[in-house]
Amino acid sequence: MRRSTVALALCLAPSAFATQQCGSVTIRSAADAEALRKGCSTVDGTVTLSAELNESISLDGVQIITGNLTSGDCNLVANRSSSASAISILSSTLTTIHGDLNLGSCVPGGLTNISFPNLKAVDGGFDIVNFGQLTYLDITNLDSVGYFYLWAPPLQTMLHNELRNVTGAHGTKRVFVTQTSLTSVDSLFRNPLDIGDSLASVEVNYFTN
Ligand SMILES: *[C@@H]1O[C@H](CO)[C@@H](O)[C@H](O)[C@H]1NC(C)=O
Ligand SMILES: *[C@@H]1O[C@H](CO)[C@@H](O)[C@H](O)[C@H]1NC(C)=O
Ligand SMILES: *[C@@H]1O[C@H](CO)[C@@H](O)[C@H](O)[C@H]1NC(C)=O
Ligand SMILES: *[C@@H]1O[C@H](CO)[C@@H](O)[C@H](O)[C@H]1NC(C)=O
Ligand SMILES: *[C@@H]1O[C@H](CO)[C@@H](O)[C@H](O)[C@H]1NC(C)=O
Repeated sequence: MRRSTVALALCLAPSAFATQQCGSVTIRSAADAEALRKGCSTVDGTVTLSAELNESISLDGVQIITGNLTSGDCNLVANRSSSASAISILSSTLTTIHGDLNLGSCVPGGLTNISFPNLKAVDGGFDIVNFGQLTYLDITNLDSVGYFYLWAPPLQTMLHNELRNVTGAHGTKRVFVTQTSLTSVDSLFRNPLDIGDSLASVEVNYFTN
């Protein structure tokens, strides 16, 4: 009995350690991001961007996030400086988010640039709502999402080839764009879009400058 318990513990120890290293993480600084990107090509959990974040971060090295990439800590929003300096969130290696990409009202105040040029699939919702300073979004290779929702009045540039597959997430297959400063969102609609066999709504309502 005792013997088998010991064997089991030895067996579990290495994987428990690896999971701890690359599990869910909250990024509050460029140093946090540096530690993550150097240690983990797969994050087995959720990456949360703290509203406290006030410097640009790179996630180069991270390829897969099995949970969400999200902004949290709404209670910090009131504490952050209104004169937040412009920051970017970049990863040229990130290809897949199995959960949601959800960057909403609690994103760092200075966020101006999101650049994930090799992100191909977000199995959950792709959800960006930004009334702050987001002007630039590079999702060049994103072709499959659960749903797509974009509401970002200041957004001027979106690099994107084409959306091909809307697989459904959280009970919706919406592709919805409203209030941006983009001049075209053709990449989202002018292609053979596989929305499966259930009801989907594809809507666009964008304002140009
Ligand atoms: C970012 O915030 C930290 C902690 O609040 C602070 O020490 C640092 O000076 C800030 N950096 C910048 C560039 O504002
Ligand atoms: C991701 O966020 C959604 C809500 O948007 C939540 O339902 C889900 O549990 C989260 N997934 C993980 C792995 O935390
Ligand atoms: C935000 O500011 C409030 C009021 O100053 C303070 O009570 C609270 O602890 C701060 N929150 C954090 C997470 O620093
Ligand atoms: C955003 O970041 C990407 C990657 O560093 C860069 O190529 C691009 O020029 C930046 N966009 C703006 C508007 O600064
Ligand atoms: C879209 O995704 C569904 C479900 O994952 C898959 O069955 C279908 O083949 C995909 N369509 C395309 C065009 O990739």
